[in-house]
Amino acid sequence: MIPFDPALQAGPGEETAVTPHVNQPALIPRGRKQGKTGPQAKERLTQLLPTITLSKAIDRAELLTQWGTPSHTARLVLEIGFGNGHALATLAARHPQDCFIGVEVFLGGVAGLLLRIQQGGLTNIRVATQSIHTVLLEQIPPASLDQVMIHFPDPWPKRCHHKRRLIQAPFLDLLASRMRPSASLSLATDWPHYAEWMAAVLAKHVDFDHPAGSTPFVSQPVDWVETRFQRKAQEAGRTIHYLAAVRKLP
Ligand SMILES: C[S@@+](CC[C@H](N)C(=O)[O-])C[C@H]1O[C@@H](n2cnc3c(N)ncnc32)[C@H](O)[C@@H]1O
Repeated sequence: MIPFDPALQAGPGEETAVTPHVNQPALIPRGRKQGKTGPQAKERLTQLLPTITLSKAIDRAELLTQWGTPSHTARLVLEIGFGNGHALATLAARHPQDCFIGVEVFLGGVAGLLLRIQQGGLTNIRVATQSIHTVLLEQIPPASLDQVMIHFPDPWPKRCHHKRRLIQAPFLDLLASRMRPSASLSLATDWPHYAEWMAAVLAKHVDFDHPAGSTPFVSQPVDWVETRFQRKAQEAGRTIHYLAAVRKLP
């Protein structure tokens, strides 16, 4: 297989994919931001959301106080782009001792998560609705996160849109700075080109170790929860690619 190099994918005159875009939030597909929200969803967004919105913290210890008084063994888990919140709520219920942060810009999805939080009586989730770039820069202190999940990020399949993909070297620089040493990063996609892209960006990144082997892809993680986008992809006959990496010791 020819090694995949995102930097080689840009056409003449286009920016390469690895040009820094950290301060420029990834563009959200048209019509996605708001979604349809009925009166009950609106009520959850105005009543419940403010009570569990992630607040800025100066360090990991202060960040963890937002969950009450978790034990010092609590793990801090971030899901980026949680969609309808099914996976995040399921994991939070499965691991009540851990602290979960969900980031999602699609308010219809946020309302879906809020419903699941209410129905499950979950107290270990905090939510941010800004773009992940802003959340990482402004609300998550350095060396805080134990686990990060980015499952089925928008694939931006057209070549002229590749630079909008979330997984880019400058974004991984920022993400790595917010992860603790040995923290885990889990990626998944059903777009083969994006899978190769992710593998190439990760392989080159100095802050991450990834499993050595003949393929950059791994089996479905043990603690996995099926997502809506995964189900749709599988129904359409597409293969899911999973990637795993570990934040190196600085
Ligand atoms: C293809 S969906 C996948 C949702 C979910 N992970 C799943 O598998 O069902 C990608 C999600 O990422 C969200 N998203 C895209 N860009 C984002 C950003 N910059 N910050 C936070 N969320 C973002 C979108 O709103 C969308 O809900």
